[in-house]
Amino acid sequence: MLKQQAGDGKRTSLHGNWSSRMAFILAVTGSAVGLGNNWKFPYIAGQNGGGAFVLVYLICVVAIGMPVMMSEILIGRRGRRNPVSTMELLGKEEGSSGKWRWVGSLSVLAGILILSYYSVIAGWTLAYVVKSAAGVFVGASSEMVESEFNAFVGSWQLVGFCHTLFMALAVFVVARGVERGLERAVKFMVPALLFLMLVLLGYSINSGHFGEGVSFMFTADWSRLTWGSVLAALGQAFFTLSIGMGAIMAYGAYLPEETSITGASAAVVTADTAIAILAGLAIFPLVFANGLNPADGPGLVFDTLPLAFGQMAGGMFFSTIFFVLLSFAAWTSAIGLMEPAVAWIVERLNRTRAEAALIIGGAIWVIGFGSVLSFNVLSDVKFLAGTIFDNVDYLTSNIMLPLGGLMITIFAGWVMCRNSTSDELGGSGGLYKAWRLLARYVAPIGILIVLFNAVS
Ligand code: TRP
Repeated sequence: MLKQQAGDGKRTSLHGNWSSRMAFILAVTGSAVGLGNNWKFPYIAGQNGGGAFVLVYLICVVAIGMPVMMSEILIGRRGRRNPVSTMELLGKEEGSSGKWRWVGSLSVLAGILILSYYSVIAGWTLAYVVKSAAGVFVGASSEMVESEFNAFVGSWQLVGFCHTLFMALAVFVVARGVERGLERAVKFMVPALLFLMLVLLGYSINSGHFGEGVSFMFTADWSRLTWGSVLAALGQAFFTLSIGMGAIMAYGAYLPEETSITGASAAVVTADTAIAILAGLAIFPLVFANGLNPADGPGLVFDTLPLAFGQMAGGMFFSTIFFVLLSFAAWTSAIGLMEPAVAWIVERLNRTRAEAALIIGGAIWVIGFGSVLSFNVLSDVKFLAGTIFDNVDYLTSNIMLPLGGLMITIFAGWVMCRNSTSDELGGSGGLYKAWRLLARYVAPIGILIVLFNAVS
């Protein structure tokens, strides 16, 4: 255990600090930008009818996501430990109870469960790098692209192999530690991904169906919006911003004292949302141009983009680069998903980072086979939300993350005293007041209303 200077909130972290403010922003952006933006957002938006869903998602990002992210970072920086110990320590320090550690435990579990299926989809992405580079999609028709996808996910051996490979990559980086491992990976990936999304957008604008895609995304037919889709929008906001599960709290623990939490959060939220919207704008026109179904589900991106690349000049090159970048984006997110569990094992069980990464990675790898098999051998096994994959996704995104976010905002807004939070957020001016209003009332009440109506 680390030696603590009790009470004054100026602790140092066991795992080292970010080398700069920019490194922190890059790392958090790297965790936020991932499959959530390019894979999940388009298909969830498609399944929930577009327009109204997208607007609710944007409202959730601003009114709930932003204050939750700020709360997580400030809690993390004040505690300077893994999410479990931080919540326990601050719970006591703020005169409440050490039982708040359960919020941290929930987050450790959420990270493990999310990565168990995230790694499977990231494995698809790896496979698509190889397929793209081999020219499989050059000039392919939509039937060919779809049957290629179906044949691939239909093989549990192939999907299982790619899942294994991806988990090995994630464990490798996590084992190497905060600065060496995490920082290097994100520096070039986000700008490069943004650039390729713009290339795709350019193609999509010329597809002749751009207007149709735009109106699908932004024309709100409120009558079609159910509480179920509002919950999906809320869950997506949490998922894509990496919040509600202590990951950002764990990253906040390594944040230097002088960095502005508000500024960093705003930068991350803006970048993440911009990439999701860009992905939607690139994908939906292609869906309509090729007569595909926007409500197709998890395969949507893996059908539309290869198809578009296959028809584009230089498409083989762009397609390969795109899936490489998406794999990188997934990789930097996977690191964040493991961080709460790994930091917890290191501090509690006194293991090295490498040992902790192996233990946690191994567990996630095993659990992941539930999702590997959901697309083939066990695709007919359906209960509650659908396949095993669907259930793990629903439970984590739509239940665990909003609940985690609820507890985090209640903790930051109600349990922590004004002095502690204004100290971390740097002052008690208008921005601080806005945060406090959102964290105390808007976010918790909003989350409760949505959860209550969607589940009852
Ligand atoms: N935000 C990531 C994405 O969009 C997924 C994610 C959810 C995540 N929770 C996380 C990543 C926690 C890192 C840490 O792909």
